[in-house]
Amino acid sequence: MLDKTKRDWWKSAVFYQIYPKSFQDANGDGVGDLRGIIGRLDYLEKLGVDGIWLSPVYASPHRDNGYDISDYRAVHPLFGTMADMDELIAEADRRGLTIIMDLVLNHSSDQHPWFLSAKSSRKSPCHDYYIWRDGTPDCPPNGTRAVFGGSAWTYVPEIGQYYYNQFSPWQPDLNWENPALRRELYDMIRFWVDKGVGGFRLDAIDKMGKEPDREGLFCSHPRLHQYMREMRREAFREDTLVTVGEAWGTGVEEAMLYANANGSELSMIFQFEHTFLDQVDKWGRIPLPLVKLKRCYEQWQHGLAGRGWNSLFLNNHDLPRIVSRWGDDGTYRVESAKMLAMMCHGMQGTPYIYQGEELGMTNIRLSIEEYDDLEIKNHFQEELAKGRTPEEIMPSIYTWGRDNARTPMQWTGGDWAGFSTVKPWLPVNPNYSAINAESALADPDSIFYFYQKLITLRKQLPVFREGSFTLLCPEDEKRFAYTRDTADEHLLVVCNFTAETLPECCPEAFCGAEVLLANYGDPSGPLRPYEARMLRRKGA
Ligand code: GLC
Repeated sequence: MLDKTKRDWWKSAVFYQIYPKSFQDANGDGVGDLRGIIGRLDYLEKLGVDGIWLSPVYASPHRDNGYDISDYRAVHPLFGTMADMDELIAEADRRGLTIIMDLVLNHSSDQHPWFLSAKSSRKSPCHDYYIWRDGTPDCPPNGTRAVFGGSAWTYVPEIGQYYYNQFSPWQPDLNWENPALRRELYDMIRFWVDKGVGGFRLDAIDKMGKEPDREGLFCSHPRLHQYMREMRREAFREDTLVTVGEAWGTGVEEAMLYANANGSELSMIFQFEHTFLDQVDKWGRIPLPLVKLKRCYEQWQHGLAGRGWNSLFLNNHDLPRIVSRWGDDGTYRVESAKMLAMMCHGMQGTPYIYQGEELGMTNIRLSIEEYDDLEIKNHFQEELAKGRTPEEIMPSIYTWGRDNARTPMQWTGGDWAGFSTVKPWLPVNPNYSAINAESALADPDSIFYFYQKLITLRKQLPVFREGSFTLLCPEDEKRFAYTRDTADEHLLVVCNFTAETLPECCPEAFCGAEVLLANYGDPSGPLRPYEARMLRRKGA
């Protein structure tokens, strides 16, 4: 087990993301809950992860599944009670699992008492907790569009002002320039630290530094980093807390501010550059350009080496399932899921596994009525309004829709995949009878055990944490190969990103080296479809 009293223990850790609505329903209402999670902690312990990033469980109207918080200090009754939360923290702790709470600090719900007061009068003490501009009903301050569609400005006729909402009208942006608001947020963070949570994932962190008066969504205002440092001093006081900020638009240079090596801001960030390469304007898809992907990873591996810290992830609750995206969710589902895992976990950084990824769960196709996500629904309506037909719109939703990753966890081949005893809030993927945790646990060759091995190796071998990264054959369009090197230990990772058989790729120094892990038996000779090999050699 990791020594979590050490300052940067999280550099050797692996985390697991739980999307609570879809993880495990214990009370039979079709929605996942905290008691459901408690009942599955043994499963996570078996996988070998060190902590859980828990997507929001706070009180919320759930316009955006909890990313719209109406009380930061309360648990949503859908998920349970504060006593359940306390039990979850204690039971997780007993198994060496640190809980990382999701913190949404860029915006609150429009039902938060602060906002209800703020919009009732310009004189409210909370008015300045949000961002307001004067205006008339038909003339917003500028043409900035919100992430989930529509204007980023919403008019409140009672006070004759617009408020700023970067995501949706139900998610008014908080005004970080207001010191009293910042104090409230820091106190709230301390409330959770005092409860025993071990860290935080900070939602949409780059959007906290905003410039509402410029048209477009401009993030990462320089003052943002002042706030980060202040928050670190005031709220994240313990050096052992792990903090990870979500920053979609951040490049290497700025990441080095957030995740700098002296720890004055956050432990690490989620950056998304690798997730944009096969995407056009959010809803369009091009084939994955492997050469660009490799260059992208190389740039991040080199950029942060010794100066910051990477996080490593392939999917989350906002992204499609990786095996359906970069792998093959048909014939080579198992092979390609393992290959992608090895490619990711072999690098420097802290890996995050998204629930079901360790089973090779796949994307889903639903009818528009069956989807739940507000982004999908808004996109569909906006495209219809532009004159496109449903047949033209649906393929982009099948590819990018966030509900792909939000279908219930597939635990068994039984009713509702063992997720619930009743019809769940979102349909179960029909492939649950073949893809589920019960059968994965019974099969020593499953994707689950492959992840378990990767996690074990990361803890055993310092080269995962310390080793420098070298990309091999950068122009190769089909294979992704790299080494990780310390003075006396060397890793080679070779991945075939295609369904073709390709010539072997093994630098001379690794000939005859120990095979640490592979996704086929007898890993030698040509690379079979989606084959992945990890080799180790000792010495200089
Ligand atoms: C983040 C969350 C996403 C949410 C958005 C607004 O990107 O991951 O699920 O909709 O922020 O809070």
